[in-house]
Parts: sequence; structure tokens; C-alpha cells
Amino acid sequence: MPVTVQLGTRSYEVLIGPGLLVQAASLITGRLGKCRCAIVTDANVASHYLSPLQNMLREQGMYAGSEVLAPGETTKNFPALGLLCESLLTMGLERGDLVIALGGGVIGDLAGLAASIVRRGIRLVQIPTTLLAQVDSSVGGKTGINTPQGKNLVGTFHQPSLVIADTDSLATLPPRQFRSGYVEAAKYGLVEDANFFAWLEQNWRLVFAKDKAALTKTISISVDGKAAIVVRDETETGDRMLLNLGHTFGHALEAWAGYSERLLHGEAIAIGIHLAYRLSAQLGLIDDGSAERVRKHFSEVGLPTTISEVAWQQFPSPRDLLTLMAQDKKVRGGKLTLILARQIGEAFMTRDVPAQVVQQFLAEQTGTSA
Ligand SMILES: NC(=O)c1ccc[n+]([C@@H]2O[C@H](COP(=O)([O-])OP(=O)(O)OC[C@H]3O[C@@H](n4cnc5c(N)ncnc54)[C@H](O)[C@@H]3O)[C@@H](O)[C@H]2O)c1
Ligand SMILES: [Zn+2]
Repeated sequence: MPVTVQLGTRSYEVLIGPGLLVQAASLITGRLGKCRCAIVTDANVASHYLSPLQNMLREQGMYAGSEVLAPGETTKNFPALGLLCESLLTMGLERGDLVIALGGGVIGDLAGLAASIVRRGIRLVQIPTTLLAQVDSSVGGKTGINTPQGKNLVGTFHQPSLVIADTDSLATLPPRQFRSGYVEAAKYGLVEDANFFAWLEQNWRLVFAKDKAALTKTISISVDGKAAIVVRDETETGDRMLLNLGHTFGHALEAWAGYSERLLHGEAIAIGIHLAYRLSAQLGLIDDGSAERVRKHFSEVGLPTTISEVAWQQFPSPRDLLTLMAQDKKVRGGKLTLILARQIGEAFMTRDVPAQVVQQFLAEQTGTSA
């Protein structure tokens, strides 16, 4: 069953399940008609999935150009964006044509941004090939690149016209990347769906074994949850902020690790979510048992849950982390925006926790002095 993101004239379908990539060309033309296509991907993904897709589109009589970028977070920058925009123009893409983002969140964010600014907006199809991109980044329209000042600080909102999430494409994804993406799925349960989190606690082994039904269910529930929130708050002025559970702490940890292989995004978020639950417990908002449930589940699937578990080059001090947290986008008027929890499945936003309290909390968590 596809999930539809209901945004009036900009509504779009998210197709989820096995066997979709092999019919991608007809899924695209059936919904969006025939036009020129530019496939944007990275070298890892290209080696598995580019030629079949390109050939399929050509068999339908369409132009299908491609741009293969270097894999990794460092590709999400201004130079790569500039080259990509020029390449799309050289391929002769016009407004009614299609940019197809084939890859993980890096490709989706970069290609999405290019699609939104070239000719003031070209249609975008997302074909996410990581679990993270399938449960999170391919849906909702956020695009972006990084700058020396921070992550995702330059970007636009540009909703795709179609999302094709083929669970079979996850077969080639490295296990560590799969695990990292899983955190964003668990996040939906923790934000607003206690039953889903409980289901994951029971069934995560099936998900990790890539059982088709379990994987499709996990992605569908996550996308459904995200779609509902995006419809309520497309540009993130309210409810959509709840999806940042664990991200204020997590982004600071990622920044301290230099956005390196030392700590993947989802791993940082696993620690961040656990910290958010621990802080909530310390503030008397929830019981210790709930925070412990979060820790136990993430540990069980093989994710880090504490700052000390990361193989840091240099251990971050509470002050270092607080400084990085204060640089996060989620700061308004100098006050930290935190997403905390009242229970499993009920997150809320607050700007009422003083920075000093957070610093003291981080000191306790790291066994250092504030
Ligand atoms: N726009 C949003 O709403 C949103 C939400 C969350 C995250 N993000 C962004 O997403 C990015 C992270 O995305 P990601 O975790 O998908 O990382 P990624 O795109 O870097 O992919 C991870 C790695 O897996 C490889 N890969 C991808 N698919 C593969 C496949 N099927 N088989 C083999 N290898 C494959 C890639 O080449 C890369 O090396 C970050 O930049 C983050 O800011 C955006
Ligand atoms: Zn995230």
C-alpha cells in the first residue's frame, strides 16, 4: 500500500516494498509522463543500480543522463552543488523534466536542492537506497548542503513528485549503515507511536534479517508517521520539530566527531535519543524504566547509547558539547530547543531547560566536571 503525502496540488505517493526498482521506469512514466531524466547518484550506488535504471528509462523512449558523485557526507557542499546544477542545465533539463535522486540521504539532499533551484524548480523523484533515506530523508521535502559553519545550514523545501522505496535495494547496504538508519525508524515510535516501538522491540531481528514483510511494515509506519507530521507542519515551525528527538545532542556529537566514519548520523542520534530520555527522567518527566527501555533496545541491536562508547580522538567536554548544541539550527533567541519525552511514544518540545542544567547533566553522563 503506498503512503500518500497529502499536500493538496503537491501531494505525492511513496511506494514501499520489494521489487519496485525493476519496474521503476513504468512506475515513473505511469504517474509523471514521459520527459527528460537526469539520474543523480553516488559511485557505490551506481555500481549496483544505475545502468539497469538508465536502460529501463531509455527503453521507454526517454533521455536518461546521469551524474555520479563521490560517496559520503563531504559531497554535500557548494562546489558539488554548483557542478551538479551546471550538469543538469547541460543535459537540457527544463521545468517539466525530472531529477531522479538514486541513493542515500546525501544524494537525496543534494539532488533535491539542485532540483529546487535549477530553472527555479524541476520535478524530483526520490529513489532512496539506504534505510535512513527510506524511512526519513526521502519524504518531507527538506533539501540541503553543509557549509564550514555547520550541517544542513543551506537548503530549501522542495517536495518530490514521487518516492520509490525498494526494500530489495537494502540487500547491498553495509550492515553498519542499515543499523544507523534503523534509529530513525525507532525514533517515530519514540516520538508518537508507543505500539510501534513495542513492535520493534519484539520484531527487530526480523527487520535486520530483511524479512520482506517486517521491513515493509517498518518503513511504511515510519513514512506514514512522517507524512502526517509533514502535512501538519510542512516548514517545521511546530510539530515537525518533534522529529528532531535526539538530534540536538546527536548533531553536537556528530560535529565533534567531524562528521566522520567514527560516528554515523544514526549512531549519534541513538546516543542523543537515549540522552534525551535520561534527561527527561532526571527532570522527573518520565520514569527511569522508560529511559532504560530505550537504552536496552538500542544496545540490543548493536548501537551505541553513551558518549563514552565512541572511539573519540579527543573526548568532548560538557562545555564543548553545549557550545556545539547552541550552534544547532534549533536555537531561538539564544535558548536551546530540546525535544524531551513524557513517556515512550510521547515527545514534546521545550525551551525551558537552562543551559547550565544541560551542562551539569552532560558532566554526569561523561563522568567529567561541568
Ligand atoms: N532531508 C531530510 O529530511 C533528512 C533527514 C535525515 C537525514 N538527512 C541527511 O541524510 C544524510 C545521511 O543519509 P544516509 O545515511 O543515507 O547516508 P549516505 O547517503 O551517505 O549513504 C550511506 C553510504 O551508503 C552507501 N549506499 C547507499 N545506498 C546503498 C546501497 N543500496 N548499497 C550499498 N551502498 C549504499 C552510500 O554510497 C554511502 O557510502 C545526511 O547528510 C543527513 O543530513 C536528511
Ligand atoms: Zn536524523
